[in-house]
Amino acid sequence: MSQYFLGNAYHAPKQGEIEFLRKTLIEVDGQGNIQSLMDENHANYQSSIDTAEQEGTLTILQAGQYLLPGLIDLHIHAPQFPQLGKALHLPLEDWLQQCTFPLEARYQDEAFAANVYQKLVSTLLANGTTTGLYFATLHLEASTILAKTCLELGQRAFVGKLNMDNKAECPEFYCEENAEVSLETTIEFINRVKTMLGNDHQLVQPVITPRFIPSCSDQVLEGLGEIAEQTDCHIQTHCSESDWEHNYVIDRHGKTDSHSLNDFGLLTRHTILAHSNFISEDDCDVIQEKGAGIAHCPLSNYYFSNAVFPLRRALDRQMHVGLGTDISGGPSASIIENCRHAVHASRLREEGTNPALEQSQRGLAGSRIDFMEAFWCATRGGAIALDIPAGSFEVGHKFDAFIMDINAPNSNITAYDNYDDEMDILQKIISGAGRQNVMKTWVDGKLVYEQ
Ligand code: GUN
Ligand code: FE
Repeated sequence: MSQYFLGNAYHAPKQGEIEFLRKTLIEVDGQGNIQSLMDENHANYQSSIDTAEQEGTLTILQAGQYLLPGLIDLHIHAPQFPQLGKALHLPLEDWLQQCTFPLEARYQDEAFAANVYQKLVSTLLANGTTTGLYFATLHLEASTILAKTCLELGQRAFVGKLNMDNKAECPEFYCEENAEVSLETTIEFINRVKTMLGNDHQLVQPVITPRFIPSCSDQVLEGLGEIAEQTDCHIQTHCSESDWEHNYVIDRHGKTDSHSLNDFGLLTRHTILAHSNFISEDDCDVIQEKGAGIAHCPLSNYYFSNAVFPLRRALDRQMHVGLGTDISGGPSASIIENCRHAVHASRLREEGTNPALEQSQRGLAGSRIDFMEAFWCATRGGAIALDIPAGSFEVGHKFDAFIMDINAPNSNITAYDNYDDEMDILQKIISGAGRQNVMKTWVDGKLVYEQ
């Protein structure tokens, strides 16, 4: 049976363009797909509302409430959730060895994993994140628990069991036995997720996840390329993230991450590259040629990347790009917060930060993005990168959405009649919304969170 949603909505079906859908009636079919959109002028508008109301299938938004497409987080380290907001003082390579690998090694303990993952996925749904692309750990069981948790809580999710078999870069306590074990457990994980009870519609999908080139042997990278070809699974990894990581790959393979991944068969239409801060024009060419996507994680860039991703360039090139929290490299679980940081970061790139320099020397002209582009990245941009029919309110798309209420208790957003127009209100939402403004979240037409 269909359900109906009536109210004001925003979406960004095209890069940089926002549509305000006034008093729109959205019909969602029993499979969670958007069946129709009607505005006030549609011939069946009022009669459809009346019927839905009689049948008890109508959700009506209140004044100050807006329906937004569900947020898409293209880069989450699920096991790092306990570390969110701390351990931000070290460079990437030291942070991994001293803080992150010891934490991730604890997911040998399945009860620990179940507890953290339940809390993480609930938190993300409460922040309006309807699709998550997750790195788990190298543990088969704990990674399976993450996939099950997403399915149980109803989040659209792409989950990867990590590959980490390079003994030179992985500590003894957190390293796979050898390449064969690494590849075998990957195949087992893919099969488990695909056949998981209740996952008939593949709400949760397995992802091939070499953590990053430094943590993997060439044998594993090669094997994963073959598995990718055989299974058509999504692929995720880190790419050219920091000076150390970018140079490590050049030293080891004599080429950049993008080219190395491509040569192993790991750059496909379904690859998401986290960060990619140091990619050259030539790297952009190969990424774009393969149709791979990039997860821009602005907050994480501040702490671990020695640089900030040039998002303006990626957008101008029409690359596939979305946003990621990079929990816990980025200390926030909110994609809205990362939207505003994507804007801030681009402004700092444009203006520069060193007042001792002349203005003409300080920044890089033409680097800024605006809130509308950030919003597109967070919704439709992420969906395009993942190649899923979601991220905007269009017939045939999945109804993944949430209610943003600017008048919610403890809201930090204020709007004024005859002063703020619709675009002002969306800008205020991107600038000031928090978890308190997310009232209800739906995935696949199913209510998965209610405040
Ligand atoms: N590179 C390899 N592993 C990680 C990780 O856990 N976080 C980040 N930000 N970069 C990485
Ligand atoms: Fe990361």
